[in-house]
Amino acid sequence: MNKETNRHDIEIFINKEKYNVSVRASTHLADTIRDHCSLTGTHLGCEHGVCGACTVLVDNSPVRGCLYLAVQADGKTVETVEGIAENGELSDIQKSFWENHGLQCGFCTPGFLILTKWLLDNFNKITEETIKDVLSSNICRCTGYQNIIKSVKQVAEERGQWSE
Ligand code: FES
Ligand code: FES
Repeated sequence: MNKETNRHDIEIFINKEKYNVSVRASTHLADTIRDHCSLTGTHLGCEHGVCGACTVLVDNSPVRGCLYLAVQADGKTVETVEGIAENGELSDIQKSFWENHGLQCGFCTPGFLILTKWLLDNFNKITEETIKDVLSSNICRCTGYQNIIKSVKQVAEERGQWSE
């Protein structure tokens, strides 16, 4: 820690890019991503760990960006919604949410997209129960969830991971 500024210099690898930032010990990761790294795709809703809008992956595990401290991410890899697109094009996950109306206002969507990516990357066989179990950590105030489940199911089918 720099005693003069009361800040910590940390290095984070977000979506494969290196960011060197100076943060207070109390600064959470979502604020750091948005305010210090200009990646505003990660949203902040409740800011106390309930809604999941701020979900990002740290070393390939989903975390609440509003509870996880930036200093905890020092030297680690972070993946945000900006990292889901492929070469500037929508990924199959994003396309499926678009086609199945898996979003309305879109406020919760970054968290759902990141969780869906994690789900698809980590489960070989995906059932409707798996989707409900994993995505139940996040809240959507608009869609009623059915179209989100349909969106995830379509990608799982396309990738050969769907299991009845
Ligand atoms: S903003 Fe982090 S859980 Fe709601
Ligand atoms: S699409 Fe509006 S909160 Fe989910």
